[in-house]
Amino acid sequence: MIEEYSKELLKRFKSPKFSGSIKNPDTVSEVGNPACGDIMHMELKIKDGVIKDIKFKTLGCPAAIASSDVVCELAKGKTLKQAKKITPKDVLKKLKKVPQIKVHCSFLGISALKKAIENYEKNAGKL
Ligand code: FES
Repeated sequence: MIEEYSKELLKRFKSPKFSGSIKNPDTVSEVGNPACGDIMHMELKIKDGVIKDIKFKTLGCPAAIASSDVVCELAKGKTLKQAKKITPKDVLKKLKKVPQIKVHCSFLGISALKKAIENYEKNAGKL
């Protein structure tokens, strides 16, 4: 039997709220899924250790796009410390149902977020 995407996942895929870019982001990241070649780009605006804005651009499947959107929603308004604690389980819970074969795609957004924070902290250390 072929598993289907949930309504929530399809809704976010068709009209993601956080798709786009930020003017003068404080940090960016780019991660890829070597298995399929899909790529995700994420941009963050950070003020006083809080994620004030976050956007993504994903060249990927519906699960990758929808999960990027969820990651942005979960991370916006959080401190960097809180954002680092977002787990794949949190993302899957929001998407309600992800076909087993697509679960790995849902981790791309978290990887992008963590890499962007890592890049930010690395650069902050150089100031
Ligand atoms: S198939 Fe590439 S991220 Fe889903």
